Amino acid sequence: MLTRRLIQWLPAFILLISGVMAMDHSNQIILAPTSVANNENADATDTAVVADQSQESTSNNVYISGDLLCNDDDCYPLLFEPSSEWQIVKPEQRLPAGLDIRVNLETGLKEAKLGEGNMVTNNNNKEKEDTNNAAEMIEETSNMVKKDESAVNNNYEFSEQFVAIRGFLNKGQYPEAAGQLEDIMEFAHDYKQGYKIATREFDLLQSVALNESIPINVRELDTRVIVACIRNNPPVVEYIEQNYPNFVRDIFNNINEVKKVTDDVQLLVKRFINILTVLIDSDPTYIVGVVDFETLRRVFYTIDDKQLKMRILEIVSAFIDRVHHEDIAPVMKRDGILFVIPQIQDWVKEFSRYVKDADIEEDHLRKFFNTLYNLKTDFGKDIKVDTPFLNWLINQVEERKAHLANGEEPRDPEQDEFDRKLINSRHLVFGNEMADSIKNFHDEL
Ligand SMILES: *[C@@H]1O[C@H](CO)[C@@H](O)[C@H](O)[C@H]1NC(C)=O
Repeated sequence: MLTRRLIQWLPAFILLISGVMAMDHSNQIILAPTSVANNENADATDTAVVADQSQESTSNNVYISGDLLCNDDDCYPLLFEPSSEWQIVKPEQRLPAGLDIRVNLETGLKEAKLGEGNMVTNNNNKEKEDTNNAAEMIEETSNMVKKDESAVNNNYEFSEQFVAIRGFLNKGQYPEAAGQLEDIMEFAHDYKQGYKIATREFDLLQSVALNESIPINVRELDTRVIVACIRNNPPVVEYIEQNYPNFVRDIFNNINEVKKVTDDVQLLVKRFINILTVLIDSDPTYIVGVVDFETLRRVFYTIDDKQLKMRILEIVSAFIDRVHHEDIAPVMKRDGILFVIPQIQDWVKEFSRYVKDADIEEDHLRKFFNTLYNLKTDFGKDIKVDTPFLNWLINQVEERKAHLANGEEPRDPEQDEFDRKLINSRHLVFGNEMADSIKNFHDEL
């Protein structure tokens, strides 16, 4: 049974990975076989074998052609070309440093524009000039980093603080180390400063986050600095993906080591999940093993925290949607997902529970609904949604029909498109379940 699934899963997996391979993350190792070899779970070992074989593959759906990124439909520049207006960032596009980035909450799309040019407050004249000239800045950013890395004393705004942190940690002066980390925090949120901190100090940041001999409150502060650096900062995410490809794996292992879930451990695990959400959303192929989903499931059902649960659902959703969008037969998608998430029905239950949460934001609602839609499309009758979900869907159909008909201008095309998709899904995708539940209802009478 397992072998049959594995064989069917293999092509799906190759497709899944090759998109990333094409992006020149050539040193990215999805699942380090050594870390899995220690694990007793046989399924995980099988997955690692698959990961190794698939690294040879070159097929994909977004590929680089010269300076362009291409998919089946069209090509666009590999390097995002910023202007003073907000523009949509297309899939896998590289972003120069120093841009303002936002996620448009109505469309769910990432957008970027030139920064205001006042982010830098140090006395490095060269950088000031660069911010005046966007085109040069794009060229210079990578050079700048290289130069700084090779500089003899490696000085920059925060070098003294990090020297101090290292000293405090070596001497076991943890409250002092914590104080310094807290001071760093506000700068880590800044797009440019965050990039500097991450590219110079990630060795320290990751080793503190993962070191079980260091007090949890210090590790928790440290993971908050990491979260601040990576959030809304694609160049930092890319830097970590390229230079610390095992970081996601190490976080999963670290979570698995947790024996006793005290309050402070809960907080640390929450921060870990925040990091995973950002990194896996950027690259779903990070997460591939049965063990990963089992870890997420355990955290989901152990720690009662709604925000945390939403984030875990985002991670699972990123993976499912990635598989769904592969160009393979639905039955292979189904078997591929079942191979790593045998408990898929549990996740269906949670997605359908949280999608109808009264406080849910529209972008979460769309994400979770789309995941249920994708799962139902690939699994058909093999997964079930419950009657409360179907009732919610009926209400949503009415609300969204009214919204489509309200004649207000200007229209948000993405909103309208989603509304139509939801309305049509009632019969096209969830139709059978509707009929079944009505039938059950009559049977019960
Ligand atoms: C973990 O932290 C302790 C205490 O600061 C230190 O002695 C040890 O070398 C660290 N271990 C690693 C792997 O960094």
